[in-house]
Amino acid sequence: MKKLFYSTLFLIVFGISAIAQKNGGMWIPTELNEKEMKELGLEISVSDIFNTTRPSIKDAIVQFGGGCTGEIISPRGLVLTNHHCGYGEIQAHSSVDNDLLSNGFWAKNNSEELPNPDLSVTFVVEIHNVSEQILAGTSGLSDEEQAKVIEKNIDSLRKNFPHKAYQNIIVKPMYAGNKYYAFVTETYRDVRLVGAPPQSIGKFGSDTDNWVWPRHTGDFSLFRIYADKNNEPADYSPDNVPFKPKNYLKISVRELKDGDFTFIFGYPGRTSEYLPSIAIEQIIDDLNPARIAIRNITLKTLDEKMRQDNATRIKYAAKYAGISNAWKKWQGESKGLRRSNAVEKRRLYENRLADKNPEIKTVLAEFEQLYGEQKKYAVANALWGELSRNSETFYLASLYYRVSQLIEKNELTKEKADKIKDEIKQIYKDFDSELDVKVTAKVLAYYVNSVPRQYVGGNYYADAAENEKTFSLWAKKSIITNAHNDVEALFADTQKLAKSLKKDKFVDMYGNLLKTYMVNCHDKNIVVSGKINSLQKRYMALQMATDTEKAFFPDANFTLRVSYGQIHGSQPADGVEYDFRTTLDGVIEKYVPGDYEFDVPKKLLDIYERKDYAPYADAKGKIPVAFTATNHTTGGNSGSPALDSKGNLIGLNFDRQWEGTMSDIHFDPELCRNIMVNARYILFIIDKFADADWLLDELTIVN
Ligand code: ARG
Ligand code: GLU
Repeated sequence: MKKLFYSTLFLIVFGISAIAQKNGGMWIPTELNEKEMKELGLEISVSDIFNTTRPSIKDAIVQFGGGCTGEIISPRGLVLTNHHCGYGEIQAHSSVDNDLLSNGFWAKNNSEELPNPDLSVTFVVEIHNVSEQILAGTSGLSDEEQAKVIEKNIDSLRKNFPHKAYQNIIVKPMYAGNKYYAFVTETYRDVRLVGAPPQSIGKFGSDTDNWVWPRHTGDFSLFRIYADKNNEPADYSPDNVPFKPKNYLKISVRELKDGDFTFIFGYPGRTSEYLPSIAIEQIIDDLNPARIAIRNITLKTLDEKMRQDNATRIKYAAKYAGISNAWKKWQGESKGLRRSNAVEKRRLYENRLADKNPEIKTVLAEFEQLYGEQKKYAVANALWGELSRNSETFYLASLYYRVSQLIEKNELTKEKADKIKDEIKQIYKDFDSELDVKVTAKVLAYYVNSVPRQYVGGNYYADAAENEKTFSLWAKKSIITNAHNDVEALFADTQKLAKSLKKDKFVDMYGNLLKTYMVNCHDKNIVVSGKINSLQKRYMALQMATDTEKAFFPDANFTLRVSYGQIHGSQPADGVEYDFRTTLDGVIEKYVPGDYEFDVPKKLLDIYERKDYAPYADAKGKIPVAFTATNHTTGGNSGSPALDSKGNLIGLNFDRQWEGTMSDIHFDPELCRNIMVNARYILFIIDKFADADWLLDELTIVN
């Protein structure tokens, strides 16, 4: 009893002092918050993290395929990222007969690695603060005039900035447009699939466990960058050779402990950390509920058929995962914002700032007025955006509608037609028209019945059931759902195509809905949100000028960033205490034979039975699987390396804890946790499960 008391006391005292982390943040690598990083345990210098005169950690980090992060882990260009980041590629190489999603894939040598036409990875070579050049000549101008000058300045900077022919210059606004940064980048276009565990490891727990801790997913896959013989980017060619990187990450197998320092290097997508309280209220009360409700409908409809039919499961796997991902995140976000009293805290903060600076009071009053005005457009705007994401038929209608408009105006050039055809074919590749018509009819009926009548236009209003019937009929008869076998034939005679599109009730409805929505909602909303954006820019500048104690970092915008924190468990709810780690034992506890989410491959079960763990087991003889820390991350950080105090790879970021997904708006180190696969689990799977020794031989493993 006494012992228990002391250990709890130890935990409380230590737990609190260990979470002394004040800031979250996703920092520009040239402007790291070195002071706090060192306080929390960083042992290397920030110049080892980012350097342009000698190899540094940044040379091992890539933006992977646009939306994820990856890192180089061998001198032969081997890239580690998440299974869910390589998912599209793994799916594209899969068929019912050769199902790499279910079976996994391990190349046995370079020649077996699989090329991916649409995949590329990008390195950042240099970062420059170019605010002065970009904002030159903008002061005193109206918003529109400013935007024009900025665009011109960006154009000329991109033209004149010194760079090599195969490099790119990307300019991005930071701090809501108060600053601008230029990135010199290099993009490699020949990236091949090297290895992926079966989804019963790589996606173990699937959507049920997505965003959830405790977690047992081995969410990783391996790719390799290829370059031409000068080690420069090239299109795919069998003559290309494995890329020789400036740097690669060493992998540490040291046992992880509570309180260990860790940092994350990668490409966080979007955050909104500096919103006024009224904007947070809008998210909790209006936007999240609307988006969640419409996705409820889609997910339920897809799920029914995916569970019954294997071909549909494969076709819709990536789409389902995508729709359910944000759907679940928004629910956690709203919950976390409420639980942490984010609105109230933000209001108190605003009051404190306003006391110091009366201009802030005026700005906040303007926000009140503008968000009030936007209220009538916000939900319809969110739902309209959702329609194309939830319904493929609706999205296709937008493409066919554009075709009909272009033909009418005699502007459908071969180039434009080819581009649209490609996009249409891409969607048809994994299209189940019967299933999608069901989804379409339901979500459209929901839309029509949820937004103000004047945004819909007279003819389409009926009660939801009636609407659903009509929309379903129109969709079934439409070109959209009947053309999927021969898009080329359809486009061969454009005059005939135009005629059929004119008669097509679904495409016609799309056109009408679009017009009414644009005129009555969208165009008005654009005016208000434009005002909100420029006010946010002013508010951002005022916050930075007024709150001199705070260390500010710019909101995420898909540029390279560093987050830092410590390994910790959490107390997500009253009476609930989470450990920071999980083990293979937990995989077995969750195992449901034959289940589509919780099945475990036979070979892994065997390894578990035999306890064939060496040398990957921890001090207690368990195989570590995942762990949590206080790194501030968001979507886009998937596949980011989790590094230790010396810059060695200890894990692979792939998720956040559900109770803390509000960190995109309000980061709270008490509640917010990122989730990583333990590097040891990755090595264990490559070694014992995949028997891919040739890959292990490429790696540098340290203790
Ligand atoms: N929640 C993670 C992220 O935002 C993982 C998503 C992929 N997994 C899934 N089951 N949908 O990307
Ligand atoms: N799974 C996310 C991604 O794909 C990372 C999780 C998060 O949003 O933090 O980037």
